[in-house]
Parts: sequence; structure tokens; C-alpha cells
Amino acid sequence: MTNLLEINISKATELIKNAKHLTAFTGAGISVESGIPSYRGKDGLWTRYDTKALELSHFYEKPIESWKIIRKIFYEYFGKASPNLAHKALANMEKNGILKAIITQNIDNLHQEAGSKNIFEFHGNSKILICRKCGEKYHVKDIGLDLLPPKCRKCNEILKPNFIFFGENIPKEAYLKSFAESDKADVFILIGVSGLVVPASLIPKKAKQKGAKIIEINPKPSNYTYSITDIFIQGKAGEVMTQIIKKLNIV
Ligand code: APR
Repeated sequence: MTNLLEINISKATELIKNAKHLTAFTGAGISVESGIPSYRGKDGLWTRYDTKALELSHFYEKPIESWKIIRKIFYEYFGKASPNLAHKALANMEKNGILKAIITQNIDNLHQEAGSKNIFEFHGNSKILICRKCGEKYHVKDIGLDLLPPKCRKCNEILKPNFIFFGENIPKEAYLKSFAESDKADVFILIGVSGLVVPASLIPKKAKQKGAKIIEINPKPSNYTYSITDIFIQGKAGEVMTQIIKKLNIV
């Protein structure tokens, strides 16, 4: 570990120890070490798959075509992933009363699987399917995806994954609760977020405006690094979070 990395991890740990209300904000980068590629960048999902599958109009025009790509990415691929050291470290910090909440852009359910409880899912969750006609929700396991498209058992309408497609609004409750949570934070820790997706990207900015100190963990500088970040820890989520919880003595 380089000296600078060590210094920044120590500084961040001090801020965390003294925080009154620590909130984490996580993006695709926290799940990279679980084997889920991020969306953007060289190996990103959107360089390999057509984003059209996640456009609402295309989904309803060609549901089988869209569902085939969705099934491949979000159920076959994501389905194999399990929580990594970073997800587990956050769950551990919550259990020990150090972390108050996680606001996540991720839809992969890995925070829940790691044991975190207070989670605000800004973009929804892939494990749940929703009927846009009657609002009924199902766990994907109870419906199965062998036959596409999956249909609502009540009204036979096509089921959609309960996450945000391109052009869709953020569900009101997730929106209000996430921004309310960011208002409470005096320390905010950003893990694996590029800061390129609006309105999610506004959440850390709002926290900063309210006076929160911003810690950022990312192997590469993001949109936040030179604007709102106070301590930039340049490294991988799992490796850095492991060091932090060691220093917090909660391993
Ligand atoms: N640890 C921490 N961060 C990492 C790691 C890692 N091991 N590997 C990559 N990253 C960083 C990248 O450097 C990048 O800054 O994670 C970030 C991922 O960026 P994006 O792929 O843009 O993901 P995110 O910020 O979560 O935005 C994705 O876009 O398509 C939408 O709705 C979708 O929620 C999703 C959002």
C-alpha cells in the first residue's frame, strides 16, 4: 500500500469514528469485485449490450426481445454474484451502530444479501417484478423466467423488472427518502459511483451543501473527486473497506 493511500484511509477512519450520522452512497463500482461489471468504461455493460432493451417504449413494443437481454444481464449474469468484502464491511458497520444508512443506485440486492438493513434503493431492485397495470409485485423466483415474457397472474399483463428503465422517473418514495437521508448525514462515503447519472448524482452534492464531509473510494477519479470530495481514497472498494473496518476494530 502506498503512503498516500494509507494516510487517506487513516484520515477517513477518523472522520468515520467521529461522525454523528454516517451515510454510504454506493454505485456499480462496489459490485465489481463480486463479478458484476460496471455500466460505463472499457468493460462496461453498455459497451457490450444495447441500452434499447431498457427503453420503456421498446420494452412494450418488443417485450420478448427486450426480456432476452434483460434476462441475460440481470438474472443469469447478476444472479451468480454474491456480496463482496465491501458490502459485508458496510453491513458490519451498520450492525455496530457506525453506519446509519445506505443509499444505493444498484439494483443487484447485494447489500441486503450482505445483511444491511437500512437501504434506500434509488433505482429499484431486480429481484422484484412489477405489473404496470395492477401494481402487483412478485419475487422473480416465484414467477421464473423460462417462459418470456413473464406475465401477471392477476391481469395477464407483461411484468417488468422493478427497476428504473431509461426515461422513467425515480419512484417518489425512493426519491424523497434518499434526499431526506442525505440531509441528515454529517459524513458521506461514496463507493464506486461515477456521478454521471442524474438525478442520483445530485444526492452527494446536496449532502455536501448541507455541510457533510465527503469520503470517496474509487480506483479512478470521478465527477465528484475534484468538486466535492474531501478525502479521495484511490483504490478498490473491497480492499479499502477491509482496511477501514480493521482500523475501526470491528473485523
Ligand atoms: N471499487 C470501487 N469503484 C470501482 C471499482 C471497484 N473495484 N471498479 C470500478 N469502480 C468505479 C468506476 O471507476 C466508476 O467510477 O465505479 C464507477 C462505476 O460507474 P458507473 O458504471 O457509471 O456506475 P454508477 O455510477 O453506479 O452509475 C450507474 O447508470 O445506467 C445507469 O441506472 C444505472 O444505476 C446505474 C447507473
